[in-house]
Amino acid sequence: MQPVVEVSGLRFRYDDGTAALQGVDFHLFPGETVALFGANGSGKTTFVLHLNGVLTGEGRVVVCGMPVTKENLTEIRRRVGIVFQEADEQLFMPTVLDDVSFGPLNLGIEPAAAVERAKSALGDVGMLHALDKAPYHLSAGEKRRVALAGVLAMNPEILILDEPTTSLDPPGRRDLARLLGRLPQAKIIVTHDAWLARRLAVRSVFFEGGRIMGDGATDELLKRFDWECDAAEAMPARLD
Ligand SMILES: Nc1ncnc2c1ncn2[C@@H]1O[C@H](COP(=O)(O)OP(=O)(O)OP(=O)(O)O)[C@@H](O)[C@H]1O
Ligand SMILES: [Mg+2]
Repeated sequence: MQPVVEVSGLRFRYDDGTAALQGVDFHLFPGETVALFGANGSGKTTFVLHLNGVLTGEGRVVVCGMPVTKENLTEIRRRVGIVFQEADEQLFMPTVLDDVSFGPLNLGIEPAAAVERAKSALGDVGMLHALDKAPYHLSAGEKRRVALAGVLAMNPEILILDEPTTSLDPPGRRDLARLLGRLPQAKIIVTHDAWLARRLAVRSVFFEGGRIMGDGATDELLKRFDWECDAAEAMPARLD
């Protein structure tokens, strides 16, 4: 089986000289869900931004059989849906419905069908009640839900979510896990949420200093890199 994402020797340096990626090799197979974890600043967001050409570094990045180059960008962005870490970067239309319909309309889908797709995606994330609201008036968790709907409405082949459970309430977190579990697409989920990684991803990769330092079974990696808060350790000391 051919991977849907193949990355080798990827290096990237930001303008201020930060070497954010220092030789990353990665693959993702059709239908597979992989969790990406690692410390703040280890390069996870920088990495996923290379998969739809928001950033371009040195090395090889091939998505759905196409190298990520300027010529392929339109096609690649149709197939790779990224829900960004900052939901505000994704929401820009006057109403929630406009925002979520924007992607399908842009794909050339006729308006009535685009609105249907948008409504269905908003239903999936529990935001149908907010169709006419201004996105910038939504709460943080609501913004994340709408940003996810915007990507789902495009029906991408590969779904990338950068910290999808941030700001979600516990039922929202559970609903998101159920929803993602039902979707057939290949998925990359960047997350500090060990519960979510365990629930959705059989395989995980661990980033450290712009490199992948571990690639294997989620359970095994969470243990190896000591990546969970033990409930007893997390309890504050009693004052009495
Ligand atoms: N626009 C930028 N200019 C300069 N340096 C940047 C920029 N964006 C990120 N960096 C740096 O690149 C490194 C990797 O950042 P990145 O955002 O990829 O980390 P991350 O693993 O996603 O972290 P987090 O878990 O906090 O989201 C960090 O050292 C960060 O400070
Ligand atoms: Mg990040």
